[in-house]
Amino acid sequence: MSLTSLTLTDFRSYAGARLEMTSGPVVLHGPNGAGKTNLLEAISLLTPGKGLRSAAAAEMGRREPGEATGRAWAVMVELDDETRLGTGVQTAGAARRIVRIDGETAQPGRLLDYLRPVWATPEQDRLFSDARADRLKFFDRLVFAADPDHAASVSIYEKALRERLRLLNDAQDGREADPVWLDALELRLGEAGARAAIARVAALHALQAAIDSRSDRPFPQADLGLDGPAEQMAEAGAEEDEIAAAIREGLAKARARDGAAGRSLFGPHRTDLTALHREKQRPAAEGSSGEQKALVLNLILAQITRLSDHAGTVAVAGAARPVLLLDEAPAHLDERRRAALFDEIVALDLQAFMTGTERDLFAGLEGRAQFVRVAEGTLETD
Ligand SMILES: Nc1ncnc2c1ncn2[C@@H]1O[C@H](COP(=O)(O)OP(=O)(O)O)[C@@H](O)[C@H]1O
Ligand SMILES: [Mg+2]
Repeated sequence: MSLTSLTLTDFRSYAGARLEMTSGPVVLHGPNGAGKTNLLEAISLLTPGKGLRSAAAAEMGRREPGEATGRAWAVMVELDDETRLGTGVQTAGAARRIVRIDGETAQPGRLLDYLRPVWATPEQDRLFSDARADRLKFFDRLVFAADPDHAASVSIYEKALRERLRLLNDAQDGREADPVWLDALELRLGEAGARAAIARVAALHALQAAIDSRSDRPFPQADLGLDGPAEQMAEAGAEEDEIAAAIREGLAKARARDGAAGRSLFGPHRTDLTALHREKQRPAAEGSSGEQKALVLNLILAQITRLSDHAGTVAVAGAARPVLLLDEAPAHLDERRRAALFDEIVALDLQAFMTGTERDLFAGLEGRAQFVRVAEGTLETD
């Protein structure tokens, strides 16, 4: 399935805008602040979660200068089978966005039956040298695009972890932490954590297989790993029960230390995604922004490969077509890699939305993409 139109109403800098598109690549070009990233963000909201800016729904409503609260907003797309997917808030400043499919309110998870947006942003240009938590969040998103249950495991885990920490902090202040309640939380953390670890390891293998299947790409190849005891157990073939028990025991042992530190120092939320630049045999974290970006793009293309029916060695059964959102993709990429990226997108027959300040950066796509000029809240195909 592909998008045939996008309509924005009071979304960010757009009062009202509409774009009709073909199924191939779309280049969005225009000066800084024109609204290019806003447009990608709009499409990224057609999947569960907070979108590519990790922003709150209340932030997204258009504000005139001086207005404190954003308006009610809506993003709507039509697909080539005429399905209409929409999201937005109905009252100004509402915190939770609603999702509509063909006009009916629907669970956000249902969007995954239609679209699987996958994105890369300039913030990821230093993904491998940035904070571990951001890297894990990025990876978890790759996991749950193919395995929606993973999002539930992670959210159950995080909620229980916050509650456990609150109890341990209370104990620190002299109030007795209820040991029965702590046991119950750690039981839940073990179960959800084990499920998450197993899902991560499965996704890692699928991604690595997709990377290895395309060693002819002129992007650096990465050997991926997950650095965390639960994932290592899963990798070694341990059963879910065993992993859950190990997490539970580790948490029970860490109570005093976590309470004193005011942080949760043990558990699969501390897992790290590692990547070795295969050719150089050096950790990706040492690479330049351009090198890290190329590694991230290769990882994103591997994700697309595994989510695609036509290209995949490890396609996800029944999965909706991925839509690629690349913010400032050409920046930091040398010409050879830029050309390779464009060729790859065309070869994969991908619906890709790419932004850049200059049209020239996309010269390699002339005649093979729709070019849209973005200027102060207006969209014009040129
Ligand atoms: N809620 C909002 N209401 C009105 N304008 C907004 C809102 N959020 C962001 N903007 C404006 O959108 C513009 C940035 O758009 P963006 O898509 O990031 O630009 P770029 O084309 O550089 O990617 C800024 O001028 C910003 O002030
Ligand atoms: Mg931008």
